Amino acid sequence: MASLTRRLFRTKPAEEIVAEGGRGEGGELRRSMTLWQLTLFSVGATLGTGIFVILGQAVPKAGPAVLAAFLLAAVTALFSALSYAELAGTIPVSGSSYSYAYATLGELVAWVCGWCLMLEYAVSVAAVAVGWGEYLNVFLRDLLGWTFPAALVHSPGDRGGVVNLTAILIVLLATWLLLRGASESAGANAVFVVVKVVVLAFFCAVAFTAFDSGNLAPFAPMGIAGVTAAASQVFFSYIGFDAASTAGEEARNPRRDLPLAIMLSLGVVTLVYVLVALAAVGAMPWREFDPESTEAGLAVIAKQAAGATWPGLVISFGAAIAIASVVLTVLYGQTRILFAMARDGLIPKIFERVSPRRRVPVANTLIVAAFVSVLAGLIPLGQLAEATSIGTLFAFAIVNAGVLVLRRTRPDLPRGFRTPFFPVTPILGVVLCLVVMAGLAGVTWLAFGIWMAVGLLAYFLYGYRHSRLNQGTR
Ligand code: ALA
Repeated sequence: MASLTRRLFRTKPAEEIVAEGGRGEGGELRRSMTLWQLTLFSVGATLGTGIFVILGQAVPKAGPAVLAAFLLAAVTALFSALSYAELAGTIPVSGSSYSYAYATLGELVAWVCGWCLMLEYAVSVAAVAVGWGEYLNVFLRDLLGWTFPAALVHSPGDRGGVVNLTAILIVLLATWLLLRGASESAGANAVFVVVKVVVLAFFCAVAFTAFDSGNLAPFAPMGIAGVTAAASQVFFSYIGFDAASTAGEEARNPRRDLPLAIMLSLGVVTLVYVLVALAAVGAMPWREFDPESTEAGLAVIAKQAAGATWPGLVISFGAAIAIASVVLTVLYGQTRILFAMARDGLIPKIFERVSPRRRVPVANTLIVAAFVSVLAGLIPLGQLAEATSIGTLFAFAIVNAGVLVLRRTRPDLPRGFRTPFFPVTPILGVVLCLVVMAGLAGVTWLAFGIWMAVGLLAYFLYGYRHSRLNQGTR
């Protein structure tokens, strides 16, 4: 029994994790990403559905105080971002929080973390791809008058759908880009990010022309409770700032650049969110926001503010680009996390095989793409957005705990960044993650419990037996 416990909680030395960096079976990943690309990578993974769609759904909960909700969610994200920055600068590898947990809290917690990250990455990317498909359909209908047969653009059980081909299309496009190489993907992502930021700036310019300060009063019609409920909902819009931490083995100067990229991207998206939210609630009375709408809420506001349809089309186009870059970067992140897990023997080796020519994990990328395509094409993933949040928050809590543990167990490690006000910040990080998790629905907790049970079964049937650490190899 004692030996079982020892095996489950055995940690992998941080130096060993770092020394393996980049190497997979068959070849090495290429260290090509700059600070600028890493920052855009995190912004690319973050700015998406949250601001284009969920903002509109959250306004009815908080009124104009949705601004405060965005700030509250940013503060929650900030504590975890500080912890991510510290660990990414200390253990700059591709496994993100999975690798940090392996170095600090042991194999079982690392596995649980990796399993949660599948909710944050693979499952969420499927949900986001479904959202992208909806956008493409609306955009083509409004612009060109094209409508596709319902059977081909919705999942089974959803409005007469059979298979959601538009959702699969974006997954395949992103896969094609990823197979061309990390730097090529980062280049495409940079273009996407510039487009989405420009489109959001355009939105602000249009919406501010219709700004009426009367729309901001009363500021918080639903009080504090409304603000916190809206904050839990818009927390989703900050998920993704940690994406740079999955590129640790492809960054040129990871110890310095990863912490900077994480903090910079959070700063940029917070600024963008607050400005866009202010422009939105200033331009349209909060009672007119529709909580059920899945159309880009911003497109509706732009249309009304300008009194013409074309600004709405520009926003819809921006939303399609924005969501495409979330799909690209999040899909990338999932492949690199699996790469790290395979290198540790916890999942089959095929996930760590790197193509010598392209220097990317080709088989891994194709398997992830196939899995996500099946989810995106066949399952209506609406409710799974909350499952994404619960898994992400759990992983964030583990990262905050990891900072506390690693400072104690390995104070000697070189750290590219140290979180200020230690230990207050990581402790508050854990507490805030748990508070937001507690606010999620019971059914979400149930789904999370089932997901975890399946994960533990998979660990004991495969990972526990094949772990390279426990076999004493490597
Ligand atoms: N933060 C990402 C989005 O809002 C998940 O789309």
